[in-house]
Amino acid sequence: MRSIEWNQTSSKVQAIDQSLLPGEFKVIEFENADEIRGAIRSMVIRGAPVIGVAAFHAMALKAREIDTHDLKTFKEKMAQFAAFLKMARPTAVNLTWATQNALDFVRDFEGSTDALQHLIFELAERKAEEDVATNMAISRFGAELINDGDRIVHHCNTGALATVDYGTALGCIRMAHEQGKRVHVYVDETRPRLQGSRLTAWELEQYKIPYEIITDSSSGYLMRLGKVAKVLFGADRVALNGDVVNKIGTYMLALAAYDNGIPAYAAFPLSSLDFNCPNGDSVVIEERSGEEVLSLQQNGQIVAPANAKAVNYAFDVTPHRLLDALITDKGVLYPPFFRDISVLGNAGRSE
Ligand code: MRU
Repeated sequence: MRSIEWNQTSSKVQAIDQSLLPGEFKVIEFENADEIRGAIRSMVIRGAPVIGVAAFHAMALKAREIDTHDLKTFKEKMAQFAAFLKMARPTAVNLTWATQNALDFVRDFEGSTDALQHLIFELAERKAEEDVATNMAISRFGAELINDGDRIVHHCNTGALATVDYGTALGCIRMAHEQGKRVHVYVDETRPRLQGSRLTAWELEQYKIPYEIITDSSSGYLMRLGKVAKVLFGADRVALNGDVVNKIGTYMLALAAYDNGIPAYAAFPLSSLDFNCPNGDSVVIEERSGEEVLSLQQNGQIVAPANAKAVNYAFDVTPHRLLDALITDKGVLYPPFFRDISVLGNAGRSE
């Protein structure tokens, strides 16, 4: 199934619970908008593109919950919820963009609230379909950069789970594999939430792509041993100059690749571009509870001393100069990135 979809029979939104994999494959159903917001916040639904589509579904459910036929009141209530929804996670621009896109749709509508409720559901469905088509386009462009026999370091999870289906950076690897290229993936475990060893490894098992899990600090040494051909990851937000904000650890990975002359690529949909953001330093980086770091156990015991504190930034900024290409649904961009990104900005996003 898709990682998120509308269930016609139950009239609910359903999604794969990403917090339980790989131990348990569980599909949860949401009947109201606040539940979806909670799932985004607690990372039951995670990954920038699927967070965006979940936001459209949350706006659709909210529209269904609002009990008024007065269009002005309806619009005000939608705007209130949109402000609340955007705050669920601050870094992935897809959440802000999707919520705003749905709100603009509501704001511009003239007609009955019943019709509007129906149209927002259609909008969410359309965005889900578009996400899949976008990922297929990214993956086709990205697969062209992958050669037979490549050993690739991949960070976090950017596969079908992180999107509606197929994936972005992992989608490129999957497409190359489906084209018959022999690829091997070094899966960064991605501390502290372990999206690599839990989710990416689980996906690679389904696709029968050979992989090995590595600790986040291993990739530099593997590169020095000559075992790595490429580095691939996704993006939560990309600035106008091409700086990439992505899962914590991406910067160190890109630095090691740069020092070893190994190409590093970020793959993402245009909806991850933030045309209001000149560079990565102006992006708000989500800081999560230190408990995520400190809860690590060995032999049934918490590893850290009882009074230990932890710093837990969920994302970092990779400067554009460390990147060899940006793989988007409109094609592969090469440095200087700001030139092509500005053109895309001026042309306007297809969404
Ligand atoms: O905190 P997460 O798991 O939502 O972070 C996800 C990432 O950083 C992904 O690499 C990014 O969203 C791209 S997913 C196609």
